[in-house]
Amino acid sequence: MSDHTTTGTDWWRNAVVYQIYPRSFADGNGDGTGDIAGMRARLPYLAELGIDAIWVNPWYRSPLNDGGYDVADYRNIDERFGSIDDAQAFVDEAGGHGIRVIVDLVPNHTSSEHAWFQAALAAGPGSPERERYHFLPGRGDDGELPPSDWTSVFGGRAWERCPDGEWYLHLFDSTQPDLNWEHPEVRAEFESILRFWLDRGVAGFRVDVAHALAKHPDYEDVGDRDQRDGPRWTEGHPFWDRDEIHPIIRSWRRVLDEYDDRMMVAEAWVRADRRPLYLRPDEYHQAFDFEFLSADWDAEQFGGIIEQSTTAARDVGSNPTWVLSNHDVVRHATRYGLPGGTDSAAWLLDGPHHLLDAEQGHRRARAAALLTLALPGSAYVYQGEELGLPEAWDLSTDVLDDPVWTDSGHRRKGRDGCRVPIPWEATGPSLGFGDAEGWLPQPVGYAALAAAVQHDDDGSTLNLYRSALRIRREHFTADFDITMIDLGADVLAFERGNGARCVVNMGAVPIAIPEGVVLLASAPLDDGELPADAAVWLADH
Ligand code: NOJ
Repeated sequence: MSDHTTTGTDWWRNAVVYQIYPRSFADGNGDGTGDIAGMRARLPYLAELGIDAIWVNPWYRSPLNDGGYDVADYRNIDERFGSIDDAQAFVDEAGGHGIRVIVDLVPNHTSSEHAWFQAALAAGPGSPERERYHFLPGRGDDGELPPSDWTSVFGGRAWERCPDGEWYLHLFDSTQPDLNWEHPEVRAEFESILRFWLDRGVAGFRVDVAHALAKHPDYEDVGDRDQRDGPRWTEGHPFWDRDEIHPIIRSWRRVLDEYDDRMMVAEAWVRADRRPLYLRPDEYHQAFDFEFLSADWDAEQFGGIIEQSTTAARDVGSNPTWVLSNHDVVRHATRYGLPGGTDSAAWLLDGPHHLLDAEQGHRRARAAALLTLALPGSAYVYQGEELGLPEAWDLSTDVLDDPVWTDSGHRRKGRDGCRVPIPWEATGPSLGFGDAEGWLPQPVGYAALAAAVQHDDDGSTLNLYRSALRIRREHFTADFDITMIDLGADVLAFERGNGARCVVNMGAVPIAIPEGVVLLASAPLDDGELPADAAVWLADH
């Protein structure tokens, strides 16, 4: 075991969790798609990076219409990724490196290829098989109108009509039918799925759209209320963040508590003031703090988020769970290169693209890494973030695979630009990702950012992350205390319980570095000054 293992049942409280999107991480068999063989081969790299745990995006059997968030068999691995034995070997080998493995749980919907949904289609209207999903007759004289006005997160209406006339609900793509969580068989099945993976030694679960499981019993129309996913709606919404979700979570927590030190983290895209409900002691251990994903590079905004999230989590006995990027958003090295207030997801298609300042994005991404890794709580690092990868924002539309592109009627490009295969080497058909071209093309600039290129470069972003994770363990994980320091409107600064400090210059001009021993900096420090868009870690001695 490596010496950085976080031990104890509370290991998750300040864990650094590395997110692997299996399709794009490493291709072991040369078919252009990442797989578990590739993941196993790269475990030494992750151990050297110094992470505590890995979250694996869905690797289950799936038609991959939504990158695996359309699960056809929750107890099996998709053959493009490997086998259940490969998955077991991955969990075991990661454990050998002192790294825990968290898997994705997708409880809101199955794939339309799941045996339950196929049985429901075959059994027809009124059958018990249909009760596990939300099948309804339509409105209108001939049932030709959908049962409610609900729309899908990806675009279009949330109801699809079957040839026999009934409609079924899908909050995402039409190949992702929503499960009916009022049905006892659905509840029992997921408790069994939890046990299946817990028995295989996984450390826990990242739970997909944790805020969508419960639906209004009469499928009430949304009307004027906002339908979009995200923390915009009010209480009592017909399908987002309903109170009936919480008994379901408690039943899962009871299962996890039968084991020793397992955890679950919610992808609950809810209003910050509602998030603590998910973090009560008998519910989730963590819930992602997504506010950084939409924050501008602004000291006041970041400061407000930090205060809000740390206080809210602390009040319910949890800790914040920081995220700068993931497989659903524009990579932050690109976001931070855009003018404040830009809707980065829309910018991918609409531009104006000449406004991108990639250098600024790169500098800010490095500073943001030090900022996040100095905060109390846990941090999730999305694959490639440690290489400083920018978004592949100019992917040609004919290679796009994300259902968002088609479901939105080609109005949104979707999320493929952050899912491009990782560059491991400077050369080769997919820059060391595998022996063949990858399933998405890599931007030209990725060669210079390859892991092998950065490995021996002291000034590289990879080495910044490696140093940060090592120093973080010693200086920033002793407790969960934080005090904000006022160094002016453009500076975000805080001190941790043991005196270690982080200072981020979010303004346009250099500032004097406060007194202290420099532990690490995101940019070269000249003449005792911290440049714009840079962060420094300080200790008292
Ligand atoms: C959230 C996941 O992160 C995203 O990738 C997926 O498309 C939706 N949930 C639907 O499962």
